[in-house]
Amino acid sequence: MTQALIFDTDPGIDDAMALFLILASPELDLLGVTTVFGNNGVGQTTANALHLLTVAERADVPVIAGAGAPLARVYKPSAARVHGEDGLGNIHLPPPARAATPWPGDAAGFIVDTVMQRPGEVTLLAVGALTNLALALQREPRIAEAARRVVIMGGAVFSRGNITPVAEANIYHDPEAARAVFGARWPVVLVGLDVTMRSTLTEADLAQLAAAGRPATDFIARIAPVYFAAYQVFGIEAIPLHDPSAVAYLLDPTLFETRTVSLYVECEGRCAGQTIADLYGVWAPLPDVEVCTGVDSSRLVSLLKHRLSA
Ligand code: BDR
Ligand code: CA
Repeated sequence: MTQALIFDTDPGIDDAMALFLILASPELDLLGVTTVFGNNGVGQTTANALHLLTVAERADVPVIAGAGAPLARVYKPSAARVHGEDGLGNIHLPPPARAATPWPGDAAGFIVDTVMQRPGEVTLLAVGALTNLALALQREPRIAEAARRVVIMGGAVFSRGNITPVAEANIYHDPEAARAVFGARWPVVLVGLDVTMRSTLTEADLAQLAAAGRPATDFIARIAPVYFAAYQVFGIEAIPLHDPSAVAYLLDPTLFETRTVSLYVECEGRCAGQTIADLYGVWAPLPDVEVCTGVDSSRLVSLLKHRLSA
């Protein structure tokens, strides 16, 4: 059975790989792409989403622009070193060939309308700050019962952070939104740094992908060097598959081991954005979240390479 999906994203080099993986997967029915600030401002992430769909020859998929700032903070862009000044590897793309689809209420409105039209069917796959989902919940709280589930690339529950010593970037960008999304009644799966740092593409993997000669793999070959160089600075000779791992969860959850935990999101001070498992129930009540704790990374990497090269 195909899974109906809204992809909420801030492209982003790994977001691009995730989108291409979705489009290469017949099990997934992509209803729309909603954009959010994060790896760049929302104007740029929206342009990037439009461009990626053109590369994949899927201009039929609507792109709806979303939040440009967190619920209660000031957005400070910080990802140019990892994703490039343009969010896509400094390849100097022309302006996108089409405009985003206007929607009443923007991305949050699109999420509400789509989820409420198809109760029980729509999966929300979020791989950026969780602002659009939180705004959608504010607009229509009943989406928490109407959505099938929410799968999120975000968090570092049993591992260290990447944007601060304790916080993962997507949660850090809007911790208040993350707290609202985790606290709603829908089932939430967290595909965070606990697993995404373990599934990586080496230079040899990237060369194999480039040799496939597909529009998506050619594009990945152009954008990946900046991302690769950013991780090399930390002594990591490979690129982590953050956002593609969340897509992989939808395609084959048996790739992952998971554990349901009571999850607290810190919103104050220097630990803002930290995702903490309250394993002993000391801070109850907290929402239950299914956290990915283990991954068969070689199978995940094969899945990605196979799908993108086919
Ligand atoms: C997450 O932050 C962004 O830079 C990536 O696209 C990914 O969604 C990893 O922490
Ligand atoms: Ca992302």
